[in-house]
Amino acid sequence: MPQSRILYRSLSKHADFDPSDLDILRTSLVNNVAQGITGFLVRAEAEFYQALQGETEALVNLIGRLSADERHSDIEILLFRNTDAPSPFESWAMSYDQFGFSNIGIAPSLPGTRTPISKEDSERIWNHMESVASADAAFGPAFAYARLPGETDLAYAKRLHLG
Ligand SMILES: Cc1cc2nc3c(=O)[nH]c(=O)nc-3n(C[C@H](O)[C@H](O)[C@H](O)COP(=O)(O)O)c2cc1C
Repeated sequence: MPQSRILYRSLSKHADFDPSDLDILRTSLVNNVAQGITGFLVRAEAEFYQALQGETEALVNLIGRLSADERHSDIEILLFRNTDAPSPFESWAMSYDQFGFSNIGIAPSLPGTRTPISKEDSERIWNHMESVASADAAFGPAFAYARLPGETDLAYAKRLHLG
């Protein structure tokens, strides 16, 4: 089955680190395991960035559900391409982390506007998410809610009391 990668950004309806983020994480872990999707969900202040890899059909279905989710709005697909490469998120059905805008090399959006993101910016953000994922997996994350090295989906859900 053909695989794809997707990166999108959206505007959260809730403040940074709202409890609803953990509900999203809980649902993502359960559904993505069942559908063979791997990914990384990041908060940059009021915005979500989510990188996903899996079967194209499963990802298209997920985008349909995401579009109807009222916890965020203004979804902008930054990258969507076929791939034969293994997932850079390995065995993560999902991890949750926080970035500053300086980490992803773009200016924060001003109220009522959004910083435009070019194709090159999108590639850089994807690559940054890949390298943070591999550093987290090798050395451990700076943020307590991100995945620990070697941590299974189940152990992660238990540690964050999402079970
Ligand atoms: C920012 C964000 C990221 C999400 N990521 C996922 C995900 O990776 N997998 C997933 O199944 N649902 C994810 N969801 C939740 C879906 O939007 C949806 O609520 C969930 O899949 C259940 O859909 P259903 O109620 O139609 O079954 C996310 C929601 C938000 C707001």
